[in-house]
Parts: sequence; C-alpha cells; structure tokens
Amino acid sequence: MATPTIILHGGAGAAIRDSVRRERVRRKLSEFADSAYGVLTRGNALEAAVHAVRLLEDDPDFNAGTGSRVQADGRARLSASVMDGASGRFAAVLNVENLKNPVLAARELLGEEFRVLAGEGAAAFALSRGFRSEDPRTREVLDRWEKWRNTGAGSRGSDTVGACALDAAGRLAAATSTGGRGYETPGRVSDSGTPAADFADRFSAVSATGTGEEILDQGLAVRIAVRVRDGLTLAEAFARSFAEARAAGHSFGAVGLDRDGRIAWETTTEAILYAWKKDGSSGDFLSGNAGSA
Ligand code: GLY
Repeated sequence: MATPTIILHGGAGAAIRDSVRRERVRRKLSEFADSAYGVLTRGNALEAAVHAVRLLEDDPDFNAGTGSRVQADGRARLSASVMDGASGRFAAVLNVENLKNPVLAARELLGEEFRVLAGEGAAAFALSRGFRSEDPRTREVLDRWEKWRNTGAGSRGSDTVGACALDAAGRLAAATSTGGRGYETPGRVSDSGTPAADFADRFSAVSATGTGEEILDQGLAVRIAVRVRDGLTLAEAFARSFAEARAAGHSFGAVGLDRDGRIAWETTTEAILYAWKKDGSSGDFLSGNAGSA
C-alpha cells in the first residue's frame, strides 16, 4: 500500500513581493492541496490531480482557466493535459477557446482513440460532452491586454498550474493547465499540452511550469521521469535535470512525486509556488525554491 500524496503548483517566476497577495496565494494553494488530498483518499490519483488543477483553473489568481492570459490578438487559447501513469495514457487539449476548465476536457479525452485535440476540434469535443461554452477572460486581463496593445506596457509570463498525485493503490497521475505566456503570436502552442510539461508512469509523475519553449527544448517532465525509471531517486533526477537547465540558461520549474510518496520541487527562476500534503504532513513554497521530502 502506497502513501497517498499530492503536490501542486501555481507557477514559477519572480517571487511575489506583495505580502498580502503572497499570503493569499499561499493559503489558496494549501486549501487546494487539502481538498485534492480529500479526493485522493476517497478516490484515485487521476481524479485528485484533475481536481487540484480544476480548482486552480477556477481561481483568477492563477494563469489557467478563468483569468488566463491572452495571446497578442486578445483571444485566450488554453492548453491542458493529463497523464495516467497506471495506464500510461496521455491526453490533451491545445489552444482551445471558450472553455473554463480545459483540464476536464483533457480528462474526458483519456478514454478516446484520438486523445490530443486542438482549437475548434477540441472546443467541439468539449461541447459534445456537455461542457458549456464560456469565455475565461476576466475584465482585468482584457484591460491589461488593451494597455499592452496601446502602449506596449506589460510583461509576458510563463506560469502554469499543475498537480501530481499518488494514491493508496500506488497509481500516479499528473495534470497541467495554462493560458500561455501572454501576448504571444496567435496560435502559439504551450508546452502544458505536451508530455514535456506533464508526464506520469508507474515510477513518477512530473508537472512543469515556466517558459514553454525551453521546457520543450529539454523535454523536461519526460527527462526527469525516465531518469527515475532508470534508477535515480526523484531528488537526483531533479538535481541533474535542473543543473542541465541552469547550464542552458533555461527558465522553468517543476514539481514531482515518486511511487514511494517522495516529492521534489525545483526552479531556475526566483520562485515556484507549490504546496503538498501527505500522511499528516504538508508544506508550501515559503520553505524554499528547491527541495524534496
Ligand atoms: N509553460 C506555459 C507556457 O509557456 O505556455
């Protein structure tokens, strides 16, 4: 019997300087970890990881689902993926519009023959499965976009949300979702809908966040997971992969979990927002930007 464990993240990048916002984000991540842990102990790893990401998508403090960043043309094209480590199946939606919870559509695709859908096809699939067509853009995001379009002021980000879970039966799963980097070329595809950012097998699960192009360059989540499968500990796999990332000048972070319930997190950026919970213990991002437990 495995130790049910959940670790989730709300993005990597600059540290949050505003202490009120930092505490709010910290509290939300802890609450979401608690909630997902409840699902985990009653259900399975896949449902817990999807549940955690759905909560993060529904919260406009995070760049996924409601409150997602928009591309240069002001349209929100969202990407999300799930991977069930027990079956080894991956599914994703890429650049889907008018969908508030792309992770749920990706979850729905896991049972399909064609498990990765993009754009209009992804939206049509979601509608056919009963998901409502809803604009995930908030007034605040649109105001920022208008300012960017008129003055060029405003920065890109690379944050993402994600979760990795291990259930009592030893099954691992990962789920990841994003609104992308913001103001990018319309049609740009995020890493969050690929196994470079979201991977699980019978040995580990990994969810990445950060500059998508660089996560793709490294094949980050697969790189870490294969190292664990080949015999490195999760902590060793993270340390080696992030040493390579630093040498390459890459900007991203990741959280991970192995089949023994060991967790790891690391980032080459200033900070990564994460929270975890297992067996009476828990932690969050104020305890550092690299570590394992
Ligand atoms: N990792 C999020 C993105 O680059 O789209």
